[in-house]
Amino acid sequence: MKNLKIASIPGDGIGNEVVPAAIKVLETIANIHGGMKFDFTHFPYGCEYYLENGAMMAEDGLERLKDFDGIFLGAVGNAKLVPDHVSLWGLLIKIRREFEQVINIRPAKVLKGVKSPLVNPKDFDLIVVRENSEGEYSSVGGRIYQGEDELAIQNNIFSRKATERAMRYAFELALKRKKHVTSATKSNGIVYSMPFWDEVFKDVSKDYPTVDTDSQHIDALSAFFITHPDKFDVIVASNLFGDILTDLGAAIMGSIGVAPAANINVNGKYPSMFEPVHGSAPDIIGKGIANPLGQIWTAKMMLDHFGEEELGNLLLAAIESVTSAGILTPDLGGIHTTEEVTVEIIRKLANY
Ligand code: NAD
Ligand code: IPM
Ligand code: MN
Repeated sequence: MKNLKIASIPGDGIGNEVVPAAIKVLETIANIHGGMKFDFTHFPYGCEYYLENGAMMAEDGLERLKDFDGIFLGAVGNAKLVPDHVSLWGLLIKIRREFEQVINIRPAKVLKGVKSPLVNPKDFDLIVVRENSEGEYSSVGGRIYQGEDELAIQNNIFSRKATERAMRYAFELALKRKKHVTSATKSNGIVYSMPFWDEVFKDVSKDYPTVDTDSQHIDALSAFFITHPDKFDVIVASNLFGDILTDLGAAIMGSIGVAPAANINVNGKYPSMFEPVHGSAPDIIGKGIANPLGQIWTAKMMLDHFGEEELGNLLLAAIESVTSAGILTPDLGGIHTTEEVTVEIIRKLANY
């Protein structure tokens, strides 16, 4: 029996509502269908932990997390308690960086029974490969002077190693899909990083002659997500472009509450981390209406990651059979609660 040791970090806000829901689903799927078992250990890290302890996680937090098979995280951030850049860099971004989770995979596709806000979504099914370790998210820079001369300088870091790694990951993924990679660039306006990005993309693409490529400036690419998302297969993007594109990908699926993500450690030295695209949703905390599908679909990505694609596909089928039946939370135009959606998914899994 495969026994997977998972660290769960619900974090802040609705993370505490959707993580327990998805854990129930994972336990069901393992009990009913798998020759496997999940062993969850819960960590109370988040903004309230910060208020009590002066840090977002225990001093030896990374040490405690590093031997788990995976990390299942909800969301981090409560700006009323802790400034966002402090909470995120103290927990989510810290784990991504220290555990070398250098790739963030974020799929977006039409879900059966979920209405896209697009007039003509066709049948889009795309994946954004987001570079997850550097780029626009850097701590190189500073603030100088005061008053009207005040300056904030933020440097972007683009290394050949990380850029090439993200691109190769995208090409390898495309080989298993529709064999098309789109590069998100902005080399018309950004004079160092983006021409470099284009150059690396061209170099890497030479190693994948069977994969079609194109390169789109991020502004136009964002518009194409609205006008013809069905034309995309795999999109490779820098950290910030990938972040923005994937909220857009979530929106065209119907709600940010459905979008899943996986932060992948590609060298096998540390656990990967599974957390949905959305945040802690302060406006709906405690109402019982948080959409659990993003977290549950993220659980499917975790199953896939551990080689349990069959179970992963079963889980996605259960999600779609519940959405097709109109059992939806209010963000998708429904009247159902987090709990009702979760219970229905569990019921479907029990019937398969
Ligand atoms: P958000 O994703 O939390 O919320 C944006 C909107 O989407 C809100 O109206 C919210 O109610 C809605 N929404 C999000 N998830 C939903 C769900 N599952 N079901 C139904 N509706 C949902 O983004 P934000 O408001 O920009 O950020 C809030 C906080 O979360 C901030 O502190 C931010 O830094 C943090 N954040 C954390 C993560 C993460 O931990 N991965 C991601 C994004 C934002
Ligand atoms: C995400 C989030 C984070 C990011 C924030 C909260 C730092 O938006 O995971 O998409 O920008 O990476
Ligand atoms: Mn984001």
